[in-house]
Amino acid sequence: MCGIVAIIGKENACRHVLDGLKKLEYRGYDSAGLAYIYDKKMFNIKSVGKLNKLINAIEESKFSKLESSKVAIGHTRWATHGKVNIKNAHPIIYDKKVAVVHNGIIENYEKIKEKSFLKSYDFETTTDTEVIPVLIDNFVKKGKSFFESAKSTLKIIDGAYAFAAIHQDFPNEIFVSRNTSPLVIGIGSDFKVVGSDSHSITQLVNQVIYLEDGDYAIIRNKEIEIFDKKDEKTHRKIVNVNTDIGFVSKDGFRHFMEKEIFEQPNVLINTISSLLQENDKIDINTQKIGIKKNNAILISAAGTSFYAAIVAKYWIEKIANIAVSVELASEYRYRNPSNVGFSSMIVISQSGESIDTLMAMREAKKLNLKTTAIVNVEGSTIDREADYSLYTRVGPEIGVASTKSFTSQLTVLFLIAIKLANENKTINHKEYQSFIKLTKSLPNSLSKCLKMNDEIIDIAQKIKNTSNTIFLGRGYLYPLALEGALKLKEISYIHAEGFAAGEMKHGPIALIEENLPVIMFLISDGLEDKSISNLQEAVSRGARTILIGDRKSIKKAKFVNYSIEIPEFEKKFASTFSPILMAIPAQLLAYHVARERGTDVDQPRNLAKSVTVE
Ligand code: AGP
Repeated sequence: MCGIVAIIGKENACRHVLDGLKKLEYRGYDSAGLAYIYDKKMFNIKSVGKLNKLINAIEESKFSKLESSKVAIGHTRWATHGKVNIKNAHPIIYDKKVAVVHNGIIENYEKIKEKSFLKSYDFETTTDTEVIPVLIDNFVKKGKSFFESAKSTLKIIDGAYAFAAIHQDFPNEIFVSRNTSPLVIGIGSDFKVVGSDSHSITQLVNQVIYLEDGDYAIIRNKEIEIFDKKDEKTHRKIVNVNTDIGFVSKDGFRHFMEKEIFEQPNVLINTISSLLQENDKIDINTQKIGIKKNNAILISAAGTSFYAAIVAKYWIEKIANIAVSVELASEYRYRNPSNVGFSSMIVISQSGESIDTLMAMREAKKLNLKTTAIVNVEGSTIDREADYSLYTRVGPEIGVASTKSFTSQLTVLFLIAIKLANENKTINHKEYQSFIKLTKSLPNSLSKCLKMNDEIIDIAQKIKNTSNTIFLGRGYLYPLALEGALKLKEISYIHAEGFAAGEMKHGPIALIEENLPVIMFLISDGLEDKSISNLQEAVSRGARTILIGDRKSIKKAKFVNYSIEIPEFEKKFASTFSPILMAIPAQLLAYHVARERGTDVDQPRNLAKSVTVE
């Protein structure tokens, strides 16, 4: 994840920017840089490697008056589009006039570069970011103010991003914008500071404003003007961060779980861009996974990670036409399994330390299977012992309940599925490109799903006192029913069970009684009518039914007690992506029910974040 720091109105602005960047190092980065304005001139220093390289470069630079500058922006870059080199390091400058630091993905940057009104521009980098300073430069040269030029730029770019920009002809202003990637504004008496999180700026201020999605602002020494996505001037709550140090690390959220649910769009940018190369090639080595022709792939995990494995089975079999067997790690390791028909095992583990998953992987190695690990914690035992590792890169997950690791695991597994499908030619190039385009749009789609929060809170209040619930799903959404039930039970202590919708008549329907909440995840994939009739059977026996689905399925099931619509997205592949998007309402529902019940959301009773002992 990239890190952004910007400051205006304070002497030695560069020094303060560097101090802020140091506090963002935990995010991981491969280059860094800063730009500052002095005497209406723009200066820019960048380096590949760690911050000490940048500090050395600053000391060696011939730039005078560095200490006297009062406006500077800085960045730690985790390479997404464009190789790791000085040119692609941020700030990205255009014509020595406009400097921009950016975190995120500008999804439509190639299209923007082809716009006729930019044909006179030579793009100097291979980054997606460069379209921002170029667009601002273009509008300023057409006579717009810096603010109006940056605002016009926002109307053109698409994607999940946060950026800060300065212009040498407008030295008393910083423009910032947030669309999915967080940005925090710190309020000093006669200066202002901006950071990717409050942790990076609390050494300077104790009051901050958290920008909301779609917000943009023009910041001057003594004033901040904030506008919302409807371009209306707005005010955001001023928060005292020093009152609760714990508060700072939760970045304004009540629990780590809440923060980790809401940061999914942003951290997924890291997962996606770490595996997608500039030319949209998927940087996953299927040779290393060791899949042999006519062999099935074995996937093993525990808990939520196991449900990700089931989704992967459905994706890989449907899209790549390769057989997949999924195994609970705690079972696989003891049942003396056969390796006939298998050549590879993929294990999935957020912590990389779950003892069952580790032992299942060791069992596979004994059976001469190649082992691949999908982990979040680099250097964990499973990472070190696997033959090949893929990383979800979503940063530390503190809440015991797995949230951002689940959606990032699914994203990695999806990329494996389409890479295999592409190699096996079970999809054509056009379909491949569509899948890649959809993968890139995931952060934005997740962002839209998070807007269901208020509706989910209403539902949570209606079911918070129940002692039992049933979750139902079919196809890709069957593992989501299992995940939704696990999320709810592990943090709210309500007994919850997940079933394949088609299984109801084989026993579970006996559980239906007056007022029992039955929650169904549903997408109109051609089988929705079958699932809807399962719901009707539940309603006719007195259940309270909650349908979380797309518009078409909700229209067909007007009889349900409550319904929540997930945002529309690319029709043709909608059902394929539903497991990742449906994870959001599943997580939010569990979170809000638990919060309403007052349980220890981040550290639920009897549970550990990583089960390292049997
Ligand atoms: C999920 O919310 C739980 N925390 C738990 O089921 C977890 O997914 C399981 O213990 C596996 O953990 P891992 O991904 O770190 O291996």
